[in-house]
Parts: sequence; structure tokens; C-alpha cells
Amino acid sequence: MNYLPMGEADLDAVTAAEDRIYPFPWTRGNFLDSLNSGHTVLLAREEGRLAGYAVMMQVLDEAHLLNISVLPELQGGGRGTALLGHLFATAKDQGATRMFLEVRPSNLAGQRLYLRHGFLEIGRRKAYYPALEGREDAIVMARDL
Ligand SMILES: CC(C)(COP(=O)(O)OP(=O)(O)OC[C@H]1O[C@@H](n2cnc3c(N)ncnc32)[C@H](O)[C@@H]1OP(=O)(O)O)[C@@H](O)C(=O)NCCC(=O)NCCS
Repeated sequence: MNYLPMGEADLDAVTAAEDRIYPFPWTRGNFLDSLNSGHTVLLAREEGRLAGYAVMMQVLDEAHLLNISVLPELQGGGRGTALLGHLFATAKDQGATRMFLEVRPSNLAGQRLYLRHGFLEIGRRKAYYPALEGREDAIVMARDL
């Protein structure tokens, strides 16, 4: 995979992918806000085609992983692991010493990925996410870089 900055011209493809990946997808506006805020917003491409993407916000030495996604038909093939490794290197280059993220307790693939790469649970946010029935907590995880 190769990684490059996401631009506004990519948002049709990215939001179409997001809608296929998540029951509660980010909107085009969410991605635009991230671009306009200067977050690290990356596309992962394979043979010129979109394979995944990620959004990371950095405040001083803390990186916050806001979105990491691999296209449904490409999941389970090591791309999420590769993208995460690229994000660790990027955050370190930008001076981060720690990375934080939130994940749904129901998202076992996400948790597996993060636990395997050194993240530890540091807390929970109650009723953080919308869910099909009511709300779902967030597991807050962190890892030193
Ligand atoms: C989470 C995600 C980014 C991981 O990317 P990926 O390319 O599928 O992951 P990898 O192939 O690198 O595998 C990473 C780990 O996740 C596990 N995994 C991947 N897909 C899985 C699935 N459907 N069910 C359970 N575990 C899964 C893998 O087994 C692997 O763990 P292991 O090495 O201990 O076996 C990707 O599955 C995805 O986009 N999921 C939907 C969006 C999402 O949940 N994003 C994270 C939100 S916090």
C-alpha cells in the first residue's frame, strides 16, 4: 500500500466507503472538518485504488486516532496493521509520544488490532456512541509511541 494525504477530491470515494463500512458512518462534513482543522488525513491506496484511510488529530505530544478503516472486501489481510504502523511512524515524526483512541466494545476486530499493537484500556466513556438500540460505551485505549 502507499499512503498519501486525502484531499477534498477524494471525499466522494471516501464517504461511499465509509457508508459501506459503518452503521453510523462519518459524514462528508466530518471529513471536511478534519481536513480544514489540519488533522493528518491519509488515504491508503493499492494499485491506484482506495484500500483504506485514517484520520489522526495531534495536540502537542498526544496523537488521537479518530478513524481507521479498511474497505470491507479487503479487511483481514493485514492492511489495518500496516496502516496503523504507518500512523505510529507519522505521529512520532510529528513529535507525539502517546496515541489515544476510542473503540466500541462490540468492535472485536478493532480491539484485536489495537491490543496486538500495544494499546491498553485506560478507561470507558459511558454512552459515547449511537447504537442500534440506545447508546454504546467507548473503550478508551492508549499506547506509548
Ligand atoms: C479494524 C480494521 C481497520 C482492521 O483492519 P484489517 O485490515 O481488517 O486488519 P488486519 O488484517 O491488519 O488484522 C488486524 C487484526 O484484526 C483481526 N481482524 C480483522 N478482521 C477481523 C474480523 N472481521 N473479525 C475479527 N477479527 C478481525 C485480525 O484477525 C487481526 O488480529 P490477529 O492478527 O490477532 O489475527 C478493519 O477491520 C476495519 O476497517 N473495520 C471496520 C472499521 C473499524 O471498525 N475501524 C476501527 C474503528 S475503532
